[in-house]
Amino acid sequence: MAKAIVSPLLERGEYNPQNVLGIVGRNSSIASALNDLPKEVKVVSSEDSLSKEVWKAPLKILAVKPQQFSKIKESLSSFQSNDQDQFPKPLLISVLAGITLKSLKKAFPGHTCVRAVPNTPSLVGQGLTGLAWPDDITLDQKKVVRKIFEPISEIYELEEKKLDSFLALTSSGPAYIALVVEAMTDGAVAAGLPRHLSNQLAHKTLSGTASLLREKSLHPAELKDMVASPAGTTISALRHLELAGLRSALIEAVVLAADKSRQLAEEVSS
Ligand SMILES: NC(=O)c1ccc[n+]([C@@H]2O[C@H](COP(=O)([O-])OP(=O)(O)OC[C@H]3O[C@@H](n4cnc5c(N)ncnc54)[C@H](OP(=O)(O)O)[C@@H]3O)[C@@H](O)[C@H]2O)c1
Repeated sequence: MAKAIVSPLLERGEYNPQNVLGIVGRNSSIASALNDLPKEVKVVSSEDSLSKEVWKAPLKILAVKPQQFSKIKESLSSFQSNDQDQFPKPLLISVLAGITLKSLKKAFPGHTCVRAVPNTPSLVGQGLTGLAWPDDITLDQKKVVRKIFEPISEIYELEEKKLDSFLALTSSGPAYIALVVEAMTDGAVAAGLPRHLSNQLAHKTLSGTASLLREKSLHPAELKDMVASPAGTTISALRHLELAGLRSALIEAVVLAADKSRQLAEEVSS
């Protein structure tokens, strides 16, 4: 995720690659992290003494797994900064699911901490990012953060308490959609189409439907009604999906993902 965020900024020349320091957990990850990045970018492992340099940087993007959060906190506490009172404070942007602004502020004193929730379509420049601001952020710092996520995503500025629901729809959503596409492909194979063709047709059906909904500003129910003709094939299939509880399963899935995100936040802050 960190690379998906940083790469387009380097491609656009927004930052000088010589000023970018990437940190990974293990030495063995360095080569793949450097892949596709300009040669001037330096990447080191967290064991390398150079990794401590990151705490002097005016802008940091934290993109480890939430379970690795405590190790990062330890790493900061072992670094003695002599400039805790600078203005504006250095920015720390966290994309960690479920780690609250309160936990970030406690873990990274002397920083202005921002929570960002991007999603995987950001990898192809079609993402969505939810941003929650802390109270102490300046207008210029907000501009810096927006500029970081704009090349890869549409930005939604939200109250922090809404980020769990945002994540349950947008960050987990690609997995729900992928599951539906995979299942539809299996259905086509079961109905007699070759696997490769079924895959291709399922992807095209997905992207074509998304474009149609967007470009004609259709409500999903309108599109469904357009496709389902009386006593036809689609309404027979829809009857089965209703009986199998597809809609209800998806509704509950989004609610569960939001609940889980809140639960993770409580576990980390307790
Ligand atoms: N993937 C998504 O769709 C998505 C969407 C929104 C938000 N997020 C959030 O983004 C974060 C990262 O997800 P990801 O999928 O990009 O995970 P990832 O591919 O596992 O990346 C995590 C990176 O952190 C490095 N790391 C581990 N320990 C470290 C340490 N002590 N110091 C510095 N670096 C360390 C890892 O290096 P090693 O591999 O060497 O350990 C790896 O490069 C998660 O918190 C997730 O909640 C992800």
